[in-house]
Amino acid sequence: MKILTLTNEQVLELADMRASVDELRSAFALLAKGAVESPVRTRFRISDVRNILLMPSLVRDKVNMASLKIVTVYPDLGPDVPSTRAVVLLTDAVDGSVKCIMGGTALTAVRTGAVSGLSCRYLARKDSRSLAMIGAGGQGFFQISGVSSQLGIQRVSVFDVDPGRRKKLAERCKNELHIESVACESVGDATAGADVIVTATTSKTPVLDANQVGPGTHVVAIGAYTPESRELGSALVSKASLFVDSVEAAMEEAGDLLIPISEGAISKEGVKGDLAGLVTGKVGGRANDSEVTIFKAVGLAFEDNAVGSMVHRLALGAGVGKWVEL
Ligand SMILES: NC(=O)c1ccc[n+]([C@@H]2O[C@H](COP(=O)([O-])OP(=O)(O)OC[C@H]3O[C@@H](n4cnc5c(N)ncnc54)[C@H](O)[C@@H]3O)[C@@H](O)[C@H]2O)c1
Repeated sequence: MKILTLTNEQVLELADMRASVDELRSAFALLAKGAVESPVRTRFRISDVRNILLMPSLVRDKVNMASLKIVTVYPDLGPDVPSTRAVVLLTDAVDGSVKCIMGGTALTAVRTGAVSGLSCRYLARKDSRSLAMIGAGGQGFFQISGVSSQLGIQRVSVFDVDPGRRKKLAERCKNELHIESVACESVGDATAGADVIVTATTSKTPVLDANQVGPGTHVVAIGAYTPESRELGSALVSKASLFVDSVEAAMEEAGDLLIPISEGAISKEGVKGDLAGLVTGKVGGRANDSEVTIFKAVGLAFEDNAVGSMVHRLALGAGVGKWVEL
C-alpha cells in the first residue's frame, strides 16, 4: 500500500485559512444533510491534565473519506513540547485504501482557527475591529488568523499568564498578519473595548467573566474540552446568547456549559443552536448589535476530515509530500 505523508509544515503551507473556513462551511452543511458521521470521541484519561483522544469520522457525498485523528493533550511537559499533538489518517471510503497520513498538530490548529472564524460570520458584529486573545499557546496564532480572515480586525490584544508567550504572539501577529498587536498584563486590559474575545487556554477554571465582556461582543471559547473544566464564568454564560459547534458533543464535553447547567444558572434549552443550524439558516445568528454571543467549540472529528481532505487534494495537485510503501 502506497501512502502520501505530509509534515506539519507542509500542512501549514497548503491550508489557507479562508479556504479552510469555506471548506468547513460546506462540511457543516453536509452534516445537516446527514452525510457526515462523527461520533463523540473516545477520551482516555491519563491523568488529571493528560488526555488521549481518538476521533473517527466519515464524510460521504463528493468527498467520501474516512478519517481518524489521534490527539494527545499533555500540557505539563514544559515549554518545548506543544500541549496539543496529533496525527491524522485519511482513508478512501470508495476503495478502502489509506490515502494519507498528515501532521495533525498543524491541521488541528488550522481547522480550530477556521471553526472560530466560521462562527464570526454568523455571530460577530460585522463592524468588529478589535480582538482580545486570551491564551498564547499553540492555538493562539491560528485563532487570530481564523477570526481576522472573516472580519476587518485592526487591533489584537493578547494576554497569557506567561509574559514571554504573550509578547511572542503579539510580535508574530504584527510580523505575519500585519495587524497592530499588543501584549497585555491582565485579562481586563486585553478585553477592554474588544469586539471579539477568544479564549484558548489550558485553564480548568474561568479566565473570563461577565464584568470583562461589553455589550455586542462575540466570545469564542475553544480551550476547555472536558465536562469538569471551563474558561467562562457562569455570570457571563447566563447573560449571553449561546451557540456551539455541536449540541450533542457540547452536552457530553463542554464544562463551559455543563457546569452552569449543573448550578442551575442556565438550561440545556438555553443553547440557541449549532454551526450546522447557522450555516443552513435554520438557526438565526446575531440578533442585534448589543447582545453578547458565545460560541463554544469542543472540536469535532469531521472538521479534521474536511480540512484534511482539502489539504490532501492540494498536495496531490502540487506534488507535495513523500510517498511511503507500507
Ligand atoms: N476546541 C477545539 O477544537 C480545540 C482544538 C485544539 C486545542 N484545544 C484546546 O485548547 C487549549 C489550548 O491549546 P494549546 O495547544 O494552545 O495549548 P498550549 O499549552 O500551547 O497553550 C495554552 C496557553 O494557555 C495559557 N494559560 C493557561 N492558563 C491560563 C490562564 N488562566 N490565563 C491565561 N492564559 C493561561 C498557558 O500559559 C499557555 O500559553 C487546550 O486545552 C487544548 O486541548 C481545543
